[in-house]
Amino acid sequence: MENNPFIEEIISQMTVEEKAAQMLQVPVSVIGMDAAREWAKKGVGSFLNVLGDDMKELAEISSKESRLKIPTIFGIDAVHGHCLNREATIFPSQLTMACTWNRDLVEKIGHVTATEVATEGIQWTFSPILCLARDARWGRTNETFGEDKFLAGELGVSIIKGYQGEDLGDDTAVLACAKHFIAYGEATGARDSYDTEITMRKIRDEFLPPFKKAVDAGCATFMTAYGSIDGTPLTANKKALRGLLRDELGFDGFLVTDWDTVNALINRQRVCDNHGDASRVAAEAGNDMIMSTLEFYDAVIEQVKSGKLEESYLDEAVRHILTIKYRLNLWEKPLKQGVPGSIGCDEHHEVALESARESVVLLKNKNNILPLGKNKDIKKIAVIGPNADDIRAQYGDWTYFTHPVPGIEKEPQRPYVTLLEGVKELAQGEDIEVVYSYGCSVNRREYYKGNFPGIPEFMEQCYADNDHDAPFYEEMPLISEAASAARDADVIVLALGDNYNCAGEYNDRADLNLSGMQEALVRVLETLHVPIITVLISSKPLAIPQVVKKSDAVICAFNGGMYGGKAIAEAIFGKINPCGRLPISFPVMTGQVPVYYNQFPGWHEGRYVDCPKDPLFAFGEGLSYTRYEYSDLKFNKDTLTVTVTVKNAGEVKGTEVVQVYIDDKFSSVMTAVKNLAGFERVELGAGESKTVSIKLEEEAFTVVLPDETRVIEPGDFDILVGHSSKNEDLLKVTVTF
Ligand code: BGC
Repeated sequence: MENNPFIEEIISQMTVEEKAAQMLQVPVSVIGMDAAREWAKKGVGSFLNVLGDDMKELAEISSKESRLKIPTIFGIDAVHGHCLNREATIFPSQLTMACTWNRDLVEKIGHVTATEVATEGIQWTFSPILCLARDARWGRTNETFGEDKFLAGELGVSIIKGYQGEDLGDDTAVLACAKHFIAYGEATGARDSYDTEITMRKIRDEFLPPFKKAVDAGCATFMTAYGSIDGTPLTANKKALRGLLRDELGFDGFLVTDWDTVNALINRQRVCDNHGDASRVAAEAGNDMIMSTLEFYDAVIEQVKSGKLEESYLDEAVRHILTIKYRLNLWEKPLKQGVPGSIGCDEHHEVALESARESVVLLKNKNNILPLGKNKDIKKIAVIGPNADDIRAQYGDWTYFTHPVPGIEKEPQRPYVTLLEGVKELAQGEDIEVVYSYGCSVNRREYYKGNFPGIPEFMEQCYADNDHDAPFYEEMPLISEAASAARDADVIVLALGDNYNCAGEYNDRADLNLSGMQEALVRVLETLHVPIITVLISSKPLAIPQVVKKSDAVICAFNGGMYGGKAIAEAIFGKINPCGRLPISFPVMTGQVPVYYNQFPGWHEGRYVDCPKDPLFAFGEGLSYTRYEYSDLKFNKDTLTVTVTVKNAGEVKGTEVVQVYIDDKFSSVMTAVKNLAGFERVELGAGESKTVSIKLEEEAFTVVLPDETRVIEPGDFDILVGHSSKNEDLLKVTVTF
């Protein structure tokens, strides 16, 4: 990249102190406005977690009162909508978006989010996560596009395009941030931010591809992962940050560390014992901007002045940052303009509703119990369960509930529609009675807190402390209340799952069973012999084989955002035909993880003696109210194009997601039993057939060798095309290269 004379002129005027400040990102929510003003005067590079007038004031100070008047930049975690602002449009979580397998829709979500973030004035969102969630115990599973590198890469590119638009200087374009580089989701034991036992070959093969696509799509910023690879923290990992990201992938934006990771080199990972070393190591490794470690400022200045660190490292980092600021046109417009009046506008809510609708995954539908309606002779529905009417569970992580910004109220902001509300609305039109009962809590602490105003605080604390071993009888009244409510209903809609405090950072799980008394609730309801439609509102797949067995229908809705409840209700009543597909496999039991579909072939068929081989639900699975038939599969070797005919053999229109997998039959290193290599959505009217063409990338036929090169090894490849990753859903054609 050619140096920009405007930027070079600024760098030539900067003192070491100003360069160090430019490399710093300051958390206003932690240090408060008084200290933030001082940092703005010093010419700090960026602030995070500040909104409204405070943000405007800091922008003004940076551009007018700092010596060189370099505009600052504001970052925020707008990861499924601009969700830290309570007025904003709240989309399904990233995992839930991935259920749509819809590139255009995900791009639209990105654009709407960017417009709302920009309308606030902010220029940067820390999104998307391109880590893979291959072990659902990981707390941040909800933040990913699921377990597969191809799907994550495709949807990652879509959302990046949506965020960044055509030109970073546009009023509605914000910087995307591909995070967390790299192999962060693969930490040992799914313990967030821990060490990852992994080789560079494996990283290249499995975890690099989505990040490579992000670089190729022009993603302007990247974030370093918290964790470490084989004992080297990513923050200090020159090989990953400079070697892989900069030199090899050709990333030319700027790289921000994750929260306080320079301090983590000292106090958590213990590879440095003082701030000077930690700051030098982080700069030398290739981090351009340091998030939240304020000690970096003095320490790095001292390192340069004492000759331990070459100033050129600072110049390089500052050059990367200022170049992006230049592309944002910050010197002309220090804050984004966005589209005034667009935050939470009707048009944006429509996109949230469309996203929720397309992400509903139907996993079981015994005897076509769904959709419900008059024709099924339903007069009374019992809506039961902790997640039927809890908007916090529906939203999941990263909203104003979970990550409050100072000055922003945590109380739920309308409009939104919970499942109970959605069912009530549609039942009214059908003249069906709806009764509701809470049933039991997902998490005892949350339920007791504030729900029994009569209980003194010390008792609440006592319940909280006894979270896990509190006796069953405490919740029995709630469970029997639910059973009474459901006794004479024609059907039960049962909303189970987890809540926001069971997911996210610091919330990995050792146990993927339903928490609290939810299993007991199901056992009691089963005895009523009323058909059960279970809806999973959760941040991740849970191990629920018994619940599935006892249910007549199962819907996976994950965290559907503000209109999640409406979309599920519409699916239940047949107002929409579900078309979501799982972006992640469901385990039968916790000990079965990892259960992702693209594992190596194994000598013992990949099974345990006490658990089936197959997952409870597989990657790519999802039913609808119609059936699809596949025929006439062909593959053109010259154009790498698959063609297949898909017929809607049922009576209602629907959208099928045609999936293409490749199985490299023999290679010099082991390869997965199959890998997703392409997908396309196709809308089909009842009885309609269409021929679908899907062009594959050459990379789909490559293998990464032990010397870390990627090559195509001659031989046979099975091309598998169909409805899901399950062999019985796939047609096959073999090609020889
Ligand atoms: C998370 C990042 C996030 C950052 C800023 C960190 O704890 O790992 O994903 O962007 O905080 O809020």
